[in-house]
Amino acid sequence: MKRELQNLTPKEIVAELDKFIIGQHKAKKAVAIALRNRMRRRGLPDELRDEVAPKNIIMMGPTGVGKTEIARRLSKLTGAPFLKVEATKYTEVGYVGRDVESMVRDLVSAAVSMVKAELQEEVKEEAEKRTEEGLLDLLLPGVKQHESAGGDEPGAPIPVNAPGSESHTGRSDETGSAAGAGGAAGTAGGSEDSRSATREKFRQRLRDGKLDDKEVEIQVTKSNFPAIEIFSGSSFEEMDLNLGNLSNLLGGKKKRKRTTVKHAREVLMQEEMDKLVDSDRVSELARQRAEEMGIIFIDEIDKIAAKENRGGVDVSREGVQRDILPIVEGATVNTKHGMVDTSHILFIAAGAFHSSKPSDLIPELQGRFPLRVELEALHAEDFIRILTQPQNALIRQYVELLKVEGVELEFTEEAIKELSEIAAGVNSKTENIGARRLHTIMELLLEEVSFNAPDLSGQKIPITPEYVKERLDEIVQDQDLSRYIL
Ligand SMILES: Nc1ncnc2c1ncn2[C@@H]1O[C@H](COP(=O)(O)OP(=O)(O)OP(=O)(O)O)[C@@H](O)[C@H]1O
Ligand SMILES: [Mg+2]
Repeated sequence: MKRELQNLTPKEIVAELDKFIIGQHKAKKAVAIALRNRMRRRGLPDELRDEVAPKNIIMMGPTGVGKTEIARRLSKLTGAPFLKVEATKYTEVGYVGRDVESMVRDLVSAAVSMVKAELQEEVKEEAEKRTEEGLLDLLLPGVKQHESAGGDEPGAPIPVNAPGSESHTGRSDETGSAAGAGGAAGTAGGSEDSRSATREKFRQRLRDGKLDDKEVEIQVTKSNFPAIEIFSGSSFEEMDLNLGNLSNLLGGKKKRKRTTVKHAREVLMQEEMDKLVDSDRVSELARQRAEEMGIIFIDEIDKIAAKENRGGVDVSREGVQRDILPIVEGATVNTKHGMVDTSHILFIAAGAFHSSKPSDLIPELQGRFPLRVELEALHAEDFIRILTQPQNALIRQYVELLKVEGVELEFTEEAIKELSEIAAGVNSKTENIGARRLHTIMELLLEEVSFNAPDLSGQKIPITPEYVKERLDEIVQDQDLSRYIL
């Protein structure tokens, strides 16, 4: 389904975003065009295609008006690999913190999971088949699948018995009795026919989920690699890069583990899928997709925009900008999955730009973000819509949550209006935190109901303007109180 979404027209993209984000039309339009442009670029002849650079965007606007939300939704509705990072978590090369190239590596990782999931979907049926055979082998150690009897074909499930170990260690608890019931199965002497009959009987029971709780012994590969993560930051990334296959080289520790058929099925399924999906192909496709369609969203960019003449921290901030620059301009970054060219990755930066302006960014970087869109501050009328219209609207969330307890909340239109005005009022009197204010206000409004919900089961609770006033007025009137509570 996601694949088709790549072909959305700008209008359709905006319409999709409209389902979740109120207003901010300019920003929606800009991201929609940027996305469409990449699709257009893919249709160009080779020589031209390389010439068309993505039009990176800076989204400016006060806090809590939907910048991050737009990016988040965008990622969900496109099949493009997407990564959101905070500019502030990077520091200049040589200091403690993440090196900026890690954003490209993370993007590729996102692409890898995406491509892997798609390719695994294709082999799912085959993997399911193999998993079933594997489980049957575990349940009936002596009764090999007749086609493969005698030989260990490559696709055969991992043998439970280590060489030299006792031949019956892999048998399930039930095997003894069940095999007894099935005749001579499980013993080496059983006839070919009765063995496969038993196997089929077990297959049916397995499919019906009747064996889910039975215990079997499986072999799990325990990688001890993560321990190295103690070396945090870039040094780990480098290691990860250079020694990416270390865990494979070391072979990981194979460990036997008793577990339920249900869990064993998951483990085997994962292993079969990993075997069936060619990891080189995954890397190749993922790299390509990250290069051609990847989107990196850099949040809090204003925080690394330094003003002149301040020295100290600013040096390091400017350093981060200088480090980011080549990546945005187009560089080749070495990743676990190969070299990745960043020239055509789309960058969307966002920031409140309270105390700095985009023009405080170093000129070279400004130049790489030619599109600027401003998001508007939100007012009471927007709040009414934000509370009610989006698919995930706050009011809907609370109504559904309390419905689980058997409590029916009923918001009157006037109450919603009252709430929105209160939110706008508090925003203007204290600090303007945009739509985030609605979260704190709703939480306070429904605190009592939420707390008492288990005792209110079966009741209908009307939320009227009077109720809103009663719950919130005292706090809203007192500015000091609202500063702390709202
Ligand atoms: N225009 C909007 N429509 C619907 N919901 C919104 C809108 N703006 C903000 N919200 C809601 O408010 C919350 C905060 O929004 P968001 O994270 O997008 O803020 P932001 O603009 O990124 O702010 P900051 O500059 O602080 O990062 C989110 O839960 C989001 O759902
Ligand atoms: Mg944000």
